[in-house]
Amino acid sequence: MSPGNGAVTENNANASKARLGELLVDVKNLKMYFPITEGIVFNRTVAEVKAVDDVSFYINKGETLGLVGESGCGKTTTGRCILQLEKATAGEILYEGQDLTKLSQKEMSTVREKIQVIFQDPFSSLNPRMKIGDILGEPIKVHGIIKDAEERNKRVRELLSLCGLNPKFADRYPHEMSGGQRQRVGVARALALNPEFIICDEAVSALDVSIQAQVINLLEDLRDEFDLTYLFISHDLSVIRHICHRVSVMYLGHMVELAECDELYENPIHPYTRALLAAVPIPDPAIEANRKHEVVKGEVPSPINPPSGCVFHPRCTLAVDSCSKDVPEFREIKPGHWVACTQV
Ligand SMILES: Nc1ncnc2c1ncn2[C@@H]1O[C@H](COP(=O)(O)OP(=O)(O)OP(=O)(O)O)[C@@H](O)[C@H]1O
Ligand SMILES: [Mg+2]
Repeated sequence: MSPGNGAVTENNANASKARLGELLVDVKNLKMYFPITEGIVFNRTVAEVKAVDDVSFYINKGETLGLVGESGCGKTTTGRCILQLEKATAGEILYEGQDLTKLSQKEMSTVREKIQVIFQDPFSSLNPRMKIGDILGEPIKVHGIIKDAEERNKRVRELLSLCGLNPKFADRYPHEMSGGQRQRVGVARALALNPEFIICDEAVSALDVSIQAQVINLLEDLRDEFDLTYLFISHDLSVIRHICHRVSVMYLGHMVELAECDELYENPIHPYTRALLAAVPIPDPAIEANRKHEVVKGEVPSPINPPSGCVFHPRCTLAVDSCSKDVPEFREIKPGHWVACTQV
């Protein structure tokens, strides 16, 4: 059962019921192991990269769930599994109650209209040879949403202005735009098919801080206007705090903590979350100078041969002997606040 998604305790039974009615995405025990093959014909699996290892979470309609963690912890892979760009090794991905992992390609193409993605690098994700108008018009045409060319052009101009761009940009090529403008095109492209759910994978990470804020504001406005739901993937805790309702923290393919946004930032419980938050600089030099930083010791281990027991134990300040043997249960410490640690 996904965290917070059932009547786990008496106290949260009613809250859970209320949430259940609005459930949109429910990921249960997701695993994605990439085989590492060897040999002339590349068919002998010698090891596996455990990119995502038993991850569960839900997202309600209209909600933004943040997915945060260091590089390589499995954020993008989680998003790609939901989009069915990777075939999950195990687990269920329920979208409006329908398990996406069990759909045929044809069935999935209908659902895919409702689930869109915005990538980090707007330049490499936009075809440099196509004008912006064609980049936005093509999916509308291919999916048969608007058949009439003139009507389609009108919709393209509308999408551009919705995303804060001059409709005349339809005649431009991607290289004639700034990074922030291109990312607005990325947002417009994601909106073109009237989606319900958008996966934003490091959607603002490549932009300057001031432009980041503008694109985040745009995403928030669009969320409110079109009742969108986001999975917001980022390694940047400040960005996540700005836009997310709830936040989940990943480490080496595992989810270590999940809570309401303010609760996570004000009362982080897992030693890894605490260390991540302690590393975020405070923009006041006087406070920053006197701060004690809890730095995580050592390097992130390889997902090919992850540590036994709790994957964080070799770097954890609270670790005891049993942490190298027992896999910690992801448990609800307070209503809605989930932590995978036996020592807290
Ligand atoms: N197709 C693949 N084949 C093998 N290993 C892969 C593949 N895709 C991802 N991985 C590995 O899976 C792990 C998780 O990668 P992923 O891209 O999901 O991390 P991430 O959290 O998105 O990192 P970043 O913050 O750098 O984007 C990494 O160790 C990565 O090398
Ligand atoms: Mg990534």
